[in-house]
Amino acid sequence: MKATLAINGGTPVRTEPFPARFWGASVVGDEELALVTEVVRSRCLFRSYGEGTPHMVDDLEREAREFFGVRHALGVTSGSAALFCALAGLGIGPGDEVIVPSLMWLSDFNAPLLHGATPVVADIDRTLCVDPDDLERKITPRAKAVVVVYFMGGVGHIDRIVEIGKKRAVAVVEDCAQSCGATFRGQRIGSLGDVGCYSFQHNKIMTSGEGGMVVTNDPLTFERAARYHDLGGLRPALAAQLEGEPQLEPFAGAQFRMNELTGAVALAQLRKLDSAVLAVTQSHFGRLTRELSEACPGIRFRDTGDHGGDAGIALYIDRQTPDKGAWFGKALAAEGIPVGATTRVCNLLHSEYVQARRQTHPNMPPFGPVGSGDACTYSPACCPNTDAIIGSMVSTMITPRMTDSDIDDIRDAVTKVWRAQEVSR
Ligand SMILES: Cc1ncc(COP(=O)(O)O)c(C=O)c1O
Repeated sequence: MKATLAINGGTPVRTEPFPARFWGASVVGDEELALVTEVVRSRCLFRSYGEGTPHMVDDLEREAREFFGVRHALGVTSGSAALFCALAGLGIGPGDEVIVPSLMWLSDFNAPLLHGATPVVADIDRTLCVDPDDLERKITPRAKAVVVVYFMGGVGHIDRIVEIGKKRAVAVVEDCAQSCGATFRGQRIGSLGDVGCYSFQHNKIMTSGEGGMVVTNDPLTFERAARYHDLGGLRPALAAQLEGEPQLEPFAGAQFRMNELTGAVALAQLRKLDSAVLAVTQSHFGRLTRELSEACPGIRFRDTGDHGGDAGIALYIDRQTPDKGAWFGKALAAEGIPVGATTRVCNLLHSEYVQARRQTHPNMPPFGPVGSGDACTYSPACCPNTDAIIGSMVSTMITPRMTDSDIDDIRDAVTKVWRAQEVSR
């Protein structure tokens, strides 16, 4: 006897709401309070000088270098700023192309444009990250970098992407905003390509409300990014991260400096990222995928190059077609499991401003009439697999305050829908 689905009038598996849906923010507590209090008491809110000795952003950068396994780290004001600085660090400018995935955040598309470079959009595969085959097809002699977006905790096939980057002399920028702390075969993401970017915005795995970071092993990329984030200058704390003398002259940069209050919260969060957040989400994620594989023969999750390295912040069931995905999502939601768009990230090729190629000024490169203006155009047809892949996925979030019994409910609801679906469809 199959249980009657809630969508057909049966009793839902879950009627209680799930705990707070945020990750880093849901574990904010005494550790953050202690470091913020220290900053307030010191009256040193700026990272480079004050009445006392500011050290929070410096400490954050030092501990982040160790945590992510990189030589250089730069605290900045946001994940978007991290992307702008990363591309500046790589010396990206007018005439260059930067390949970005269709499933991305606005900043991934905007960052090349703000440097006058052309974003070229590549399709995703069933990892929900950029498809290495389409990436390779989209590389032209003008391509200087690819931005890999690790989507909602996943790590994709970054090994193949790094290999393609090396072979075709295209720098790999890792956008780790949604997957902070995830690993690929034992190595933290962000340290695998040429430069890594993190966001510490509120809805992230570690948070300081707003904030971000750039990491790299390359001293010149670091120096250019660090100068760009501070009006073209290089203050002593960042110059000290270089092993030798600075290589660059001052230039006209932006201002994306992190302050000490942000640094204090981010530092407290980094110190408990593994123990308070990832240990919980990854354990729940591992149990769910294991138990569902047993209970639902044939069930498929999103593809990955390293299941164990996933940050575990969301479960993606791949129903293979948008039709099946839509039905399964509706049935699971009726069982009381929050389903669906887990972030506002979507196929950016549907965005009106992207299709209109709208910039701050009509003469701005790459689309403006400086030179001939770039002919690149944008529509969903540029990436024909994206919508069907997104539509096939049914997702639900896994957050640090969820208990074993919350996870039992997700497992039971998925199992119930899976078993019913075998007869109803
Ligand atoms: C993939 C991705 N990249 C970059 C960002 C930008 O981060 P921020 O909001 O800190 O600027 C976000 C934010 O949601 C994101 O999801």
